[in-house]
Amino acid sequence: MAETKALYQLGETPPLGQVPRQMHASLIRPDRYGQPIDAFRTEVVDVPQPGPRQVLVWVMAAGINYNNVWAALGRPVDVIANRQKQDKSEPPFHVGGSDASGIVWAVGEGARGVKIGDEVVLSCASWDEDAADIRAGADPITSTSTRIWGYESNWGSFAQFTLVDDYQCHPKPPKLSWEAAAAYMLVGATAYRQLMGWEPHVVRPGDPVLIWGGSGGLGSMAIQIVKAKGGIPIAVVSSKERIEHCLRLGAHGVIDRTDPAFTHWGRLPDTADTAAYAQWMQGANAFRKKWSEVLGSRQGPRIVLEHPGESTVPTSILVCDNAGMVVICAGTTGYNADVDLRYLWMRQKRLQGSHFANTEQCRALNDMVIDGSVDPALARTFAFDEVGLAHQMLHENTHPPGNLAIRVNAPATH
Ligand SMILES: NC(=O)c1ccc[n+]([C@@H]2O[C@H](COP(=O)([O-])OP(=O)(O)OC[C@H]3O[C@@H](n4cnc5c(N)ncnc54)[C@H](OP(=O)(O)O)[C@@H]3O)[C@@H](O)[C@H]2O)c1
Repeated sequence: MAETKALYQLGETPPLGQVPRQMHASLIRPDRYGQPIDAFRTEVVDVPQPGPRQVLVWVMAAGINYNNVWAALGRPVDVIANRQKQDKSEPPFHVGGSDASGIVWAVGEGARGVKIGDEVVLSCASWDEDAADIRAGADPITSTSTRIWGYESNWGSFAQFTLVDDYQCHPKPPKLSWEAAAAYMLVGATAYRQLMGWEPHVVRPGDPVLIWGGSGGLGSMAIQIVKAKGGIPIAVVSSKERIEHCLRLGAHGVIDRTDPAFTHWGRLPDTADTAAYAQWMQGANAFRKKWSEVLGSRQGPRIVLEHPGESTVPTSILVCDNAGMVVICAGTTGYNADVDLRYLWMRQKRLQGSHFANTEQCRALNDMVIDGSVDPALARTFAFDEVGLAHQMLHENTHPPGNLAIRVNAPATH
């Protein structure tokens, strides 16, 4: 067998199972925190070693997600300082990347369900399987030990090798390219949990569902999941190009949030200020009217898939159907989301937080991709030295509709 070199250039491949000492990684250091385009730089670092039940994966392609925009900005959490506070031996840099496709290259002691050579896609939540709450029966994704790999933890997928726990590995859909396979798991499984994880508010045939950011990563997945479950996906976006993307994915209809009749985005005025509140309600009612036109009925959405947060939550709570659910996984536009409690209690609505997904939900979403009912909606693949550019586009909301991937070790074939 050929001898393993200490470092392989991008485009070269070591013999299967042989691990070089060093690797190329696109990483963030604290002195570069700021605009994503400047924060990431390709450097050479040591390859991490798999510990018990861990798996070292040769990364073919990586998915781009909003979380590493936050990592690059260094806020709201300084991920490097946070880790070093907990463990002094943590390196002073962040290798981001919470989605990947690749090949199992080495396994740690006791790793189960994977072997060297397996083609896998990776899910981004890791937890301590021996944590007290998990042993007591908690859903692992809610465990106090849970961390998002490649964001809260180091050794993400923007590198030639990445380090994960064995249960983070799932079968790669055989028909997909490496790039498409790297693009869907984080957003897809998050949307799946939001839509199918909160009984009794799961998508049933005929349920209308409102999806904010329908052309984004989460939205592109959500439209397809709702459609596949027999629901009626109605998306909200901000451009004509994005409307067409949502319709192509199967949206029943799309609302353009830039319509000048919608004058009410952002925080609620004080409910005691009746004039300002009436003004707010005028814009919100224009949105409610548009929803009814698009749906063809006055019924509100049984589920609202939320993530913009501050700018949209007041509207989501208002338009949500009686006894429906607003399910939220982020606060992209801000964290001070106002709720007019009268609509929450009188109409008996539910406001539910949701964060990524457990292993069962990742598998269920992966099966939907394998059987073709969910397409990864890969919009663009970037070269390895464009990790910063891809995150900058996400930060500025100028990315094309759908999901983005980075080619790492996969050859450029198209
Ligand atoms: N907790 C979790 O597990 C989890 C998992 C995945 C993602 N997230 C978070 O969820 C958020 C969305 O992720 P993503 O991957 O879907 O991002 P994305 O691809 O950038 O899509 C977000 C969409 O939000 C829409 N948007 C932007 N500003 C808006 C506003 N003021 N009002 C309404 N919509 C607005 C944009 O669509 P239009 O401009 O066309 O409306 C954009 O396409 C991010 O904050 C991400 O970190 C959380």
